[in-house]
Amino acid sequence: MRLIIMPDQHSATRLAAGEIASVINSRTKPVLGLATGRTMEGVYRHLSTFHHELGLDFSHTSSFNLDEYVGVPASDTHSYHHYMNDLLFRHVNISTHAVHLPNGMATDLNAECAAYEQAIIDHGGIDLQLLGIGDTGHIGFNEPPSPFDTRTRCVTLNARTREQNAPMFGGNPEDVPSQALTMGVGTILEARQLLLVALGSSKAEIVAEALEGKIDPQVSASAVRLHTNCTVILDKESASQLTPQTRKKADYLRK
Ligand code: GLP
Repeated sequence: MRLIIMPDQHSATRLAAGEIASVINSRTKPVLGLATGRTMEGVYRHLSTFHHELGLDFSHTSSFNLDEYVGVPASDTHSYHHYMNDLLFRHVNISTHAVHLPNGMATDLNAECAAYEQAIIDHGGIDLQLLGIGDTGHIGFNEPPSPFDTRTRCVTLNARTREQNAPMFGGNPEDVPSQALTMGVGTILEARQLLLVALGSSKAEIVAEALEGKIDPQVSASAVRLHTNCTVILDKESASQLTPQTRKKADYLRK
Protein backbone atom coordinates (compact mmCIF):
# COMPACT_ATOMS: atom_id res chain seq x y z
CA MET A 1 0.00 0.00 0.00
CA ARG A 2 1.30 3.45 -0.90
CA LEU A 3 0.28 6.15 1.57
CA ILE A 4 0.45 9.80 0.52
CA ILE A 5 -0.27 12.66 2.91
CA MET A 6 -0.98 16.01 1.30
CA PRO A 7 -0.99 19.42 3.00
CA ASP A 8 -4.66 20.17 2.29
CA GLN A 9 -7.88 19.02 0.63
CA HIS A 10 -7.24 20.88 -2.61
CA SER A 11 -3.86 19.25 -3.22
CA ALA A 12 -5.13 15.83 -2.08
CA THR A 13 -8.07 15.83 -4.51
CA ARG A 14 -5.87 17.21 -7.30
CA LEU A 15 -3.40 14.38 -6.83
CA ALA A 16 -6.25 11.83 -6.86
CA ALA A 17 -7.57 13.35 -10.10
CA GLY A 18 -4.05 13.14 -11.51
CA GLU A 19 -3.87 9.40 -10.73
CA ILE A 20 -7.18 8.90 -12.54
CA ALA A 21 -5.97 10.98 -15.49
CA SER A 22 -2.85 8.77 -15.78
CA VAL A 23 -5.05 5.69 -16.10
CA ILE A 24 -7.21 7.42 -18.72
CA ASN A 25 -4.11 8.43 -20.68
CA SER A 26 -2.35 5.08 -20.49
CA ARG A 27 -5.16 2.71 -21.62
CA THR A 28 -6.85 2.39 -24.95
CA LYS A 29 -10.21 1.61 -23.30
CA PRO A 30 -9.98 2.76 -19.67
CA VAL A 31 -12.54 1.40 -17.23
CA LEU A 32 -12.97 3.51 -14.10
CA GLY A 33 -14.71 2.52 -10.88
CA LEU A 34 -16.22 5.71 -9.46
CA ALA A 35 -17.38 6.78 -6.01
CA THR A 36 -19.70 9.40 -4.58
CA GLY A 37 -19.77 11.48 -1.39
CA ARG A 38 -18.50 14.94 -0.48
CA THR A 39 -14.87 13.76 -0.63
CA MET A 40 -15.14 13.15 -4.37
CA GLU A 41 -16.59 16.54 -5.26
CA GLY A 42 -13.10 18.08 -5.43
CA VAL A 43 -11.72 15.10 -7.37
CA TYR A 44 -14.41 15.52 -10.03
CA ARG A 45 -13.92 19.29 -10.15
CA HIS A 46 -10.22 18.74 -10.92
CA LEU A 47 -11.03 16.11 -13.57
CA SER A 48 -13.43 18.54 -15.26
CA THR A 49 -10.70 21.20 -15.22
CA PHE A 50 -8.18 18.72 -16.69
CA HIS A 51 -10.69 18.04 -19.48
CA HIS A 52 -11.33 21.73 -20.25
CA GLU A 53 -7.84 23.11 -19.77
CA LEU A 54 -5.54 20.20 -20.62
CA GLY A 55 -7.71 18.25 -23.06
CA LEU A 56 -8.08 15.11 -20.91
CA ASP A 57 -10.11 12.90 -23.23
CA PHE A 58 -12.88 10.69 -21.79
CA SER A 59 -14.23 9.55 -25.15
CA HIS A 60 -12.89 5.99 -24.79
CA THR A 61 -13.55 5.73 -21.04
CA SER A 62 -16.25 3.58 -19.42
CA SER A 63 -17.26 3.81 -15.79
CA PHE A 64 -18.96 1.77 -13.10
CA ASN A 65 -20.12 3.42 -9.90
CA LEU A 66 -19.86 1.67 -6.57
CA ASP A 67 -23.42 2.07 -5.42
CA GLU A 68 -26.90 3.58 -5.61
CA TYR A 69 -29.81 3.96 -3.21
CA VAL A 70 -32.76 1.59 -3.57
CA GLY A 71 -36.06 3.28 -4.49
CA VAL A 72 -34.55 6.57 -5.66
CA PRO A 73 -35.05 7.20 -9.40
CA ALA A 74 -32.10 8.41 -11.49
CA SER A 75 -33.94 11.70 -12.10
CA ASP A 76 -34.20 12.41 -8.34
CA THR A 77 -31.64 14.97 -7.18
CA HIS A 78 -30.77 12.67 -4.22
CA SER A 79 -29.70 9.78 -6.46
CA TYR A 80 -26.08 8.97 -7.15
CA HIS A 81 -27.03 9.02 -10.85
CA HIS A 82 -27.85 12.70 -10.43
CA TYR A 83 -24.71 13.33 -8.36
CA MET A 84 -22.49 11.83 -11.07
CA ASN A 85 -24.17 13.72 -13.91
CA ASP A 86 -24.07 16.96 -12.00
CA LEU A 87 -20.46 16.74 -10.79
CA LEU A 88 -18.69 14.90 -13.58
CA PHE A 89 -20.44 13.36 -16.56
CA ARG A 90 -22.02 16.54 -17.97
CA HIS A 91 -18.69 18.39 -17.71
CA VAL A 92 -16.57 15.93 -19.72
CA ASN A 93 -16.80 14.06 -23.03
CA ILE A 94 -17.73 10.65 -21.59
CA SER A 95 -20.45 8.88 -23.58
CA THR A 96 -23.78 8.47 -21.77
CA HIS A 97 -23.77 4.82 -22.96
CA ALA A 98 -20.41 4.21 -21.27
CA VAL A 99 -21.46 5.15 -17.73
CA HIS A 100 -22.95 2.57 -15.41
CA LEU A 101 -24.59 2.79 -12.00
CA PRO A 102 -26.66 0.08 -10.35
CA ASN A 103 -30.39 0.66 -10.89
CA GLY A 104 -31.97 0.98 -7.46
CA MET A 105 -35.42 1.07 -9.12
CA ALA A 106 -35.09 -2.39 -10.72
CA THR A 107 -38.04 -4.69 -10.00
CA ASP A 108 -35.67 -7.63 -9.50
CA LEU A 109 -32.77 -6.27 -7.45
CA ASN A 110 -30.88 -9.58 -7.38
CA ALA A 111 -31.01 -9.83 -11.17
CA GLU A 112 -29.86 -6.21 -11.41
CA CYS A 113 -26.83 -6.97 -9.18
CA ALA A 114 -25.91 -10.07 -11.18
CA ALA A 115 -26.19 -8.09 -14.45
CA TYR A 116 -23.96 -5.35 -12.99
CA GLU A 117 -21.25 -7.88 -12.12
CA GLN A 118 -21.52 -9.34 -15.62
CA ALA A 119 -21.24 -5.90 -17.25
CA ILE A 120 -17.99 -5.26 -15.34
CA ILE A 121 -16.63 -8.59 -16.61
CA ASP A 122 -17.80 -7.82 -20.17
CA HIS A 123 -15.79 -4.58 -20.05
CA GLY A 124 -12.65 -6.49 -19.06
CA GLY A 125 -12.72 -5.52 -15.37
CA ILE A 126 -12.01 -2.20 -13.66
CA ASP A 127 -8.62 -0.52 -14.16
CA LEU A 128 -8.85 1.87 -11.24
CA GLN A 129 -11.42 1.87 -8.45
CA LEU A 130 -11.84 5.16 -6.61
CA LEU A 131 -12.96 4.78 -2.97
CA GLY A 132 -14.05 7.01 -0.13
CA ILE A 133 -14.62 5.83 3.41
CA GLY A 134 -17.78 6.10 5.49
CA ASP A 135 -17.95 6.63 9.26
CA THR A 136 -18.67 2.92 9.69
CA GLY A 137 -15.49 2.09 7.77
CA HIS A 138 -17.47 1.17 4.68
CA ILE A 139 -16.23 1.28 1.11
CA GLY A 140 -19.12 1.57 -1.32
CA PHE A 141 -21.98 0.69 1.02
CA ASN A 142 -20.29 -2.40 2.48
CA GLU A 143 -21.52 -1.99 6.02
CA PRO A 144 -20.07 -4.01 8.89
CA PRO A 145 -19.77 -6.92 8.68
CA SER A 146 -19.05 -7.34 4.95
CA PRO A 147 -17.02 -10.46 4.19
CA PHE A 148 -14.21 -9.85 1.73
CA ASP A 149 -15.73 -12.17 -0.88
CA THR A 150 -19.04 -10.28 -1.14
CA ARG A 151 -20.33 -9.36 -4.59
CA THR A 152 -22.72 -6.67 -5.84
CA ARG A 153 -25.86 -6.96 -3.72
CA CYS A 154 -28.65 -5.20 -1.88
CA VAL A 155 -27.68 -4.07 1.64
CA THR A 156 -29.38 -2.40 4.60
CA LEU A 157 -27.71 0.83 5.60
CA ASN A 158 -26.31 1.27 9.08
CA ALA A 159 -28.03 3.94 11.23
CA ARG A 160 -24.70 5.79 11.43
CA THR A 161 -24.44 5.90 7.62
CA ARG A 162 -27.97 7.29 7.32
CA GLU A 163 -26.97 9.98 9.82
CA GLN A 164 -23.74 10.70 7.91
CA ASN A 165 -25.63 11.10 4.63
CA ALA A 166 -28.65 12.95 6.12
CA PRO A 167 -27.36 16.43 5.13
CA MET A 168 -27.87 15.44 1.47
CA PHE A 169 -31.52 14.54 2.28
CA GLY A 170 -32.48 17.73 4.12
CA GLY A 171 -30.99 16.70 7.48
CA ASN A 172 -33.30 13.93 8.70
CA PRO A 173 -31.67 10.45 8.79
CA GLU A 174 -35.17 8.93 8.41
CA ASP A 175 -35.33 10.45 4.93
CA VAL A 176 -32.18 8.60 3.81
CA PRO A 177 -33.19 5.37 2.06
CA SER A 178 -32.70 2.30 4.24
CA GLN A 179 -31.31 0.14 1.45
CA ALA A 180 -28.77 0.42 -1.34
CA LEU A 181 -27.17 -1.64 -4.07
CA THR A 182 -23.40 -1.81 -3.73
CA MET A 183 -20.47 -3.54 -5.33
CA GLY A 184 -19.15 -6.10 -2.86
CA VAL A 185 -15.75 -6.03 -1.21
CA GLY A 186 -14.79 -8.97 -3.45
CA THR A 187 -15.87 -7.00 -6.53
CA ILE A 188 -13.81 -4.00 -5.41
CA LEU A 189 -10.70 -6.06 -4.66
CA GLU A 190 -10.74 -7.38 -8.24
CA ALA A 191 -10.03 -3.92 -9.67
CA ARG A 192 -6.47 -3.73 -10.98
CA GLN A 193 -5.74 -0.60 -8.91
CA LEU A 194 -7.40 0.95 -5.84
CA LEU A 195 -7.34 4.63 -4.91
CA LEU A 196 -8.76 5.48 -1.48
CA VAL A 197 -9.21 9.16 -0.61
CA ALA A 198 -10.16 10.53 2.80
CA LEU A 199 -10.30 14.16 3.91
CA GLY A 200 -10.83 16.11 7.10
CA SER A 201 -10.54 15.48 10.83
CA SER A 202 -13.92 13.69 10.99
CA LYS A 203 -12.29 10.80 9.09
CA ALA A 204 -9.13 10.60 11.22
CA GLU A 205 -10.34 7.93 13.63
CA ILE A 206 -11.81 5.56 11.03
CA VAL A 207 -8.81 6.05 8.73
CA ALA A 208 -6.47 4.98 11.54
CA GLU A 209 -8.68 1.98 12.28
CA ALA A 210 -8.81 0.94 8.61
CA LEU A 211 -5.08 1.37 7.97
CA GLU A 212 -3.64 0.22 11.29
CA GLY A 213 -6.29 -1.94 12.96
CA LYS A 214 -7.16 -5.54 12.30
CA ILE A 215 -7.93 -6.42 8.68
CA ASP A 216 -11.49 -7.36 9.37
CA PRO A 217 -14.94 -7.49 7.70
CA GLN A 218 -16.15 -5.16 10.51
CA VAL A 219 -14.20 -2.39 8.74
CA SER A 220 -14.53 -3.11 5.05
CA ALA A 221 -11.99 -0.39 4.15
CA SER A 222 -9.29 -2.45 5.92
CA ALA A 223 -9.56 -4.86 2.97
CA VAL A 224 -7.69 -2.41 0.73
CA ARG A 225 -4.51 -3.47 2.55
CA LEU A 226 -4.87 -6.91 0.94
CA HIS A 227 -4.62 -5.39 -2.54
CA THR A 228 -1.22 -5.38 -4.26
CA ASN A 229 -1.75 -2.05 -6.02
CA CYS A 230 -3.42 0.34 -3.63
CA THR A 231 -2.77 4.05 -3.09
CA VAL A 232 -4.26 5.95 -0.15
CA ILE A 233 -4.36 9.74 -0.39
CA LEU A 234 -5.06 11.70 2.80
CA ASP A 235 -4.88 15.32 3.82
CA LYS A 236 -3.11 16.28 7.07
CA GLU A 237 -6.36 16.23 9.08
CA SER A 238 -7.53 12.77 8.05
CA ALA A 239 -4.00 11.45 8.72
CA SER A 240 -3.83 13.04 12.18
CA GLN A 241 -4.58 9.90 14.20
CA LEU A 242 -2.11 7.61 12.42
CA THR A 243 0.80 6.44 14.53
CA PRO A 244 4.22 8.05 13.97
CA GLN A 245 5.44 4.71 12.52
CA THR A 246 2.76 4.75 9.81
CA ARG A 247 3.32 8.44 9.11
CA LYS A 248 7.04 7.83 8.74
CA LYS A 249 6.31 5.39 5.90
CA ALA A 250 4.12 7.91 4.05
CA ASP A 251 5.15 10.12 1.14
CA TYR A 252 4.62 13.82 1.81
CA LEU A 253 4.06 15.78 -1.35
CA ARG A 254 4.01 19.55 -1.27
CA LYS A 255 1.93 20.35 -4.34
C1 GLP B 1 -21.37 7.26 0.91
C2 GLP B 1 -20.86 6.39 -0.21
C3 GLP B 1 -19.44 5.93 0.06
C4 GLP B 1 -18.58 7.13 0.45
C5 GLP B 1 -19.14 7.77 1.68
C6 GLP B 1 -18.28 8.91 2.19
O1 GLP B 1 -21.76 6.54 2.02
N1 GLP B 1 -21.65 5.23 -0.42
O2 GLP B 1 -18.92 5.32 -1.10
O3 GLP B 1 -17.27 6.69 0.68
O4 GLP B 1 -20.42 8.25 1.31
O5 GLP B 1 -18.93 10.12 2.09
P1 GLP B 1 -18.26 11.52 2.27
O6 GLP B 1 -17.19 11.64 1.23
O7 GLP B 1 -19.40 12.47 2.02
O8 GLP B 1 -17.72 11.58 3.63
